[in-house]
Amino acid sequence: MIETDEAARAILRANDRGGYTVPNGRVYPFQWNWDSAFVALGFDTFDRDRAWTELETLFRAQWEDGFLPHIVFWKDDPGYFPGPSVWATGRRPATSGITQPPVAASVVRRLWDRAVEAGEGAAYRPRLEALFPKLMNWHRWFRDHRDPDRRGIVVALHPWETGRDNSPEWDAPGEAIDVSGVGEYVRRDTSHLDAKMRPTKLEYDRYLALVQHGRAQGWDHARIAAGSPFRVADVGMSMILLRANRDLLALAQDLGRGREEGELIELAARGERGIGWLWDEARQAWCSRDLLTGRSSGFVTSASFLSFYAGLRDARRDSAMLGHLDRIAARVRYLMPSLDPDDPGFQMIRYWRGPVWSVVNYMIGTGLGEAGHAGWADKVRADTLGLIESSGFYEAFSPVDGTGSGGDDFSWTAAIWLAWAGTAG
Ligand code: DGY
Repeated sequence: MIETDEAARAILRANDRGGYTVPNGRVYPFQWNWDSAFVALGFDTFDRDRAWTELETLFRAQWEDGFLPHIVFWKDDPGYFPGPSVWATGRRPATSGITQPPVAASVVRRLWDRAVEAGEGAAYRPRLEALFPKLMNWHRWFRDHRDPDRRGIVVALHPWETGRDNSPEWDAPGEAIDVSGVGEYVRRDTSHLDAKMRPTKLEYDRYLALVQHGRAQGWDHARIAAGSPFRVADVGMSMILLRANRDLLALAQDLGRGREEGELIELAARGERGIGWLWDEARQAWCSRDLLTGRSSGFVTSASFLSFYAGLRDARRDSAMLGHLDRIAARVRYLMPSLDPDDPGFQMIRYWRGPVWSVVNYMIGTGLGEAGHAGWADKVRADTLGLIESSGFYEAFSPVDGTGSGGDDFSWTAAIWLAWAGTAG
């Protein structure tokens, strides 16, 4: 394990571009939002200052309205498509115009708790004081621009926002996207990686049509939302935001911020009430739902199991989810496949249609442990450890035989090793 720890640290150092870390230098040569948050967890195990810097750099790209972009293009790089000239958000630094799952507040809470435990609370408090209002503004932005009916959920306006780009949850809603005006373009992902591991051409056409929609609206978030052909209540982002609002509340309490405390209590309560809309009674699972048709996706994905991480405690629903866990664990060697292996669309190495992702395992395992399901929490962690030890620090892994999928020497996989999978006890 000592050698694996050293290899993980070496990956983070090699992917460090000075204040921010690229997920993988070839496939993803910029700063990604939720990648950076997980990366901070890894740095925090050996360089606390660098961990905080990762998030401070990310928030330097925050827009005035609180929006935090999913990519920050600190330097251009021809190895990625679509780059800054396609997004054309007109920002300095150049950024994309969509966001990503809001894991940052939960990460900051963990960094803060560890700094306090290490007796460094006084040194890090000013940094927390500076980050707190930025996190607050991002969460308010979700309330104002990604929850049109004030239900306490997150409505994604682009599959890339969910972080689970090609999950089948977006297939039916994606049919409403007109791709006839997309035109010719050259993908770069498939020149770095086997196309069998990546989204299809039709999916890319839809991604680009939505980028063009945002661009045509001048990246005005209210206008984009009003006319977007894709509006899906994402079970993953909704669970993650609920957790993040609770973590931000704990930080508000530590900082004695009474006004924000009240606001966050209300946001978390609204999330807890509203998220029930994503329970699919027929499927007996947490599922994403198309806001435009009202239809549940009916897909059981790894995101469905984030209910424990979100802190939802409902004996009947928890037991149904544990039933799915039992069934899935009997079908694959490694938890947690990104798509139910009993689904006919399951593909063991295609991105979010089967592979295991270490960061999702971290959230699922953490949630299961907190909910008192220690046996399952240990299994999710042991499986993550086994995958990394046998295959290396891949972007994702086949749940069937552990084969690495996507980019190698991947930053967030290295970080999750250091912060969670590779730690004993
Ligand atoms: C990609 O380019 O594959 C990314 O997931 C978009 O964020």
